[in-house]
Amino acid sequence: MALADFLADLDSLLTSANAAFAAAADSDSLEVARVEFLGAKSGRLKTVQQGLGKIDKPDKPAAGKKLNEVKKAITAAFEQAQQNLSAGGGEDAGDDGFDPTLPGRRARLGHIHPITQTIEQLKEIMGRLGFSVAEGPEVEDKWHNFDALNIPPIHPARSELDNFYLATAEKAAGEPMLLRSQTSTVQIRVMEKTPPPVRIISLGRVYRPDTADATHYPMFHQIEGLMVDRGVTMADLKSVLRLFASSFLGGDVHIRFRPSFFPFTEPSVEVDISWQGGWMEMGGAGMIDPNVLRAVGYDPDEVTGFAFGLGVERICMSRHQVTDIREFYRNDVRFLEQF
Ligand code: DAH
Repeated sequence: MALADFLADLDSLLTSANAAFAAAADSDSLEVARVEFLGAKSGRLKTVQQGLGKIDKPDKPAAGKKLNEVKKAITAAFEQAQQNLSAGGGEDAGDDGFDPTLPGRRARLGHIHPITQTIEQLKEIMGRLGFSVAEGPEVEDKWHNFDALNIPPIHPARSELDNFYLATAEKAAGEPMLLRSQTSTVQIRVMEKTPPPVRIISLGRVYRPDTADATHYPMFHQIEGLMVDRGVTMADLKSVLRLFASSFLGGDVHIRFRPSFFPFTEPSVEVDISWQGGWMEMGGAGMIDPNVLRAVGYDPDEVTGFAFGLGVERICMSRHQVTDIREFYRNDVRFLEQF
């Protein structure tokens, strides 16, 4: 083979290799070009190189020298193209788009929601006073939400406009079903299952079709308390509530009862708490109505009891001076991370 032909082959090989590497738009096509020109088994450089054996002996040093130069130049062109692609960054940074030198994304640490924190603290405080935690379903029947609680059949609290009645659940159960409007339902469920004495609290969600504003939300939480035994009096109710409030709020807390009415208690009171000035209404309480005790099979001549139902959001709001209940449910971490 003539030396001139060999050198010409090398030159044209370098020209096409340069063009192919420069044209590769991503790492996949660059790899295809690399195999075409530099492939160890049947790359084009390899093929041209095989011509070296047929070069006349005196011309061999010159041919070998040129071969090495072209090999270096093609390799350099490939490396340059590779660098250009990764410097371009974007989706095709590096071979597989993953740049191990970038700093990682820091995982943001969350914490427990303020309402859940309050619930945990209330359970702990009432636990120290000997109250265990009971639970009940959020989808209820009329017996537990109304009838057994001595709420008469024509009472406005049963209105379709004041409750979330559930058509599908009614179909399945064969009787009207609703999202419970109060946790007082759990009093009934516990007393139906357990003979006296009982001493429980229940914490959970309740639902009412109220328009959301600073003090209302269609879903909120209540803490319900129930204590039934021989000789339980209103003095027990008040001292339990005072201990409860002072344990949670700390310091100088006052409890005030205002006469009120609930179908399931007699007498009934509204419970106000004073802490750091001003009275705040926290919920209702009273001595369990004998009709309720009878409805669950207790004997009102044997045992008496008290019950209370307070709003968890209210308790949490007064503790932290939150002025709008909607803040709890906006999922804005700038608000939530303060607690
Ligand atoms: N269930 C009442 C409500 O949601 C609150 C309440 C009042 C609960 C008096 C009680 C109670 O246990 O004794 O408005």
